[in-house]
Amino acid sequence: MLTIWVHPLGLAAVTRVLSGIQPSGELNLGTYLGALRRFSQGSGDDDSYFCIVDLHAVTVPQEPAQLRARTLSTAALYLASGLDPETATIFVQSHVPEHTELGWLMECTASFGELSRMTQFKEKSDGREFVSAALFTYPALMAADILLYNADRVPVGDDQKQHLELARDLAIRFNSRYGAVFTVPEPDIPRTAARVMDLQEPTRKMSKSVESPQGTVLMLDPPADIERKFKRAVTDAESEVRFDPSAKPGVSNLLSILGAATGHDPASLAGTYSQYGPLKADTAAAVIALLGPIQERYAALMADPGHLTDILAKGASRAREVAAPTLERARTAVGLLPR
Ligand code: TYM
Repeated sequence: MLTIWVHPLGLAAVTRVLSGIQPSGELNLGTYLGALRRFSQGSGDDDSYFCIVDLHAVTVPQEPAQLRARTLSTAALYLASGLDPETATIFVQSHVPEHTELGWLMECTASFGELSRMTQFKEKSDGREFVSAALFTYPALMAADILLYNADRVPVGDDQKQHLELARDLAIRFNSRYGAVFTVPEPDIPRTAARVMDLQEPTRKMSKSVESPQGTVLMLDPPADIERKFKRAVTDAESEVRFDPSAKPGVSNLLSILGAATGHDPASLAGTYSQYGPLKADTAAAVIALLGPIQERYAALMADPGHLTDILAKGASRAREVAAPTLERARTAVGLLPR
């Protein structure tokens, strides 16, 4: 049950939390440490909404059967990572049609210029033969995801910072044009492992596109694969273990991962190692210890897909209870005739 602490001035102090992950590939260690792990680490009083953003995934071509399977598998990973469907609302974005409708109003609020400045659009469209219009307007839909729930806090990795800034700007612009409708959200970016890097190319983010399978640790990788990937992780020609992300990206990435997995500060961990080998072995062991229990829970959850779809159906109807009134307020504020 949600406990609501009432501020002396009458303001409820419950924090609304929202975040989402695309079911566009297999979830990796970066997604877990940068975002998913922190979904279940809020205060017990948070009112939380976590969606699987399938409409964002289809901004680039997806194989339909694989998209369906990955959407369900992402839901299972949410639960296996510690989200409790009794206290958090877990749902699929496309099951709540309010997202696309508010997305349209956000497209009307965002300018062409600001969408053109999104670095993720530039990265994702670069070299593609077909670039959908939706890939360009994607950040407006993401703003709608957040603003529909009047989220106060949005746990994300560092690569989503610019999108969050835009969501804030759109909330402020909309409110100033039409009156106070939306809460201006705050990004919540972790101190450690905000940008987990590829183990083979440590100057590039570990990503779902998995152009580098040996550099990407998947959440469902068996322990032997995790060990091998860390053992072969690219470091540098020196031998000093030092936390210095620009001069020593490979070693610093290992220290960040170890730090995030064990709850220690990466810079102070550096002092406890004099060679790369033991650092790699300890990082692999810490990641295996972290992911092992999640993998076990995942297997149990995937054995009962009916239970997962029930949770998602309940989640969608709970999400709509919050999303529908916000959309209605936004529609009215803009001057759309009531339906
Ligand atoms: P997505 O699906 O690419 O990634 C999901 C979350 O994981 C984080 N992340 C990482 N963190 C650290 N190191 C990495 N290598 C790494 N890779 C991924 C991302 O920062 C993200 O938090 N646009 C979003 C999805 C989205 C969303 C939202 C997020 C849609 N609507 C509303 C928050 C709120 C995305 O593509 O994330």
